Amino acid sequence: MLDLTYRPRRLRTTPAMRALVRETTLQTEDLVYPLFIVPGEGVREPIESLPGQYHLSVDEAVKTAKEAYELGIPGVEIFGLPTYKDEQGSSAWDMNQPVQQAIKAIRETVPNLIVISDVCLCQYTSTGHCGCVEDHEVLNDETLPLLAKVAVSHAKAGAHMVAPSDMMDGRVAVIREALDEEGFTNVSIMSYAAKYASAYYGPFRDAVHSAPEFGDRKGYQMDEANRLEAMREIELDIREGADIIMIKPALSYLDIVREARDNFDYPLAVYNVSGEYAMVKTAAKAGLVDEKRIVLETLLSMKRAGAKIIITYHALDVARWLQEK
Ligand code: PBG
Ligand code: ZN
Repeated sequence: MLDLTYRPRRLRTTPAMRALVRETTLQTEDLVYPLFIVPGEGVREPIESLPGQYHLSVDEAVKTAKEAYELGIPGVEIFGLPTYKDEQGSSAWDMNQPVQQAIKAIRETVPNLIVISDVCLCQYTSTGHCGCVEDHEVLNDETLPLLAKVAVSHAKAGAHMVAPSDMMDGRVAVIREALDEEGFTNVSIMSYAAKYASAYYGPFRDAVHSAPEFGDRKGYQMDEANRLEAMREIELDIREGADIIMIKPALSYLDIVREARDNFDYPLAVYNVSGEYAMVKTAAKAGLVDEKRIVLETLLSMKRAGAKIIITYHALDVARWLQEK
């Protein structure tokens, strides 16, 4: 005889029953929405590599930030396209550039929205690398003070949080020190702690023109085969003063997310990156998958793996879908 004293299906009988025993939830307040800021005024230009996303001038970015806030999304992450590039990437700390202007404008118009800024140099350097380059080598220690300048310029513009994505060794410590020296002790750091050298960034690099001019980013971003190394990277960033640790990309690295959740008692974020987004959008457009269901399932899996914060281009859609329920 079958022993069916315990029948798991009993708790799946109705929507209310399933809700009662549900272990993980996805909420609008978990989401951060990335914005791409370009020079000019009145610009709202579709990004070809990221269907449904836009290049926004400062005035338009403010409108979208307001929309995100009204939907209940707690924060935006600011990325920018500068008006000039040079060897050092000096437009990255120029207060008159789109990023700094957007931070300022969003803080003024939507004061309760959390403004996070991506801190890196690759959109700003003529080499397209995340640091300064000598003889085709990306220099670590020489890059650190430049990153600190970028972070301080964002804090001066009003950022609540800076998010270094460069993967130079020691950058969290240098940024923390610089922020504190300038009196920004309350500006927090979300470090891209375990950031892999991933093919999933392709559509983003097209969107912000940041593909490296020579070579690749494997000399600073992580080898995708490594798990233990991710734990060491996270530990280092926590020791250096990171407030939130991030794993990136998300979907192919959920094992790392789970391990980080089990090992570190810190707020944990994932970046649902451009390639993950583009794959879903393309498959949905082709009628191969149900976009809403597949997005909600995918983001829920990130929560289930242990992340709290999800940075995602789907944020506006998800917030609307969650309101429908
Ligand atoms: C810049 C940066 C990248 C992303 C976020 N910040 C690209 C890269 O490292 O080449 C990727 C975001 C995405 O793919 O959505 N360092
Ligand atoms: Zn970079």
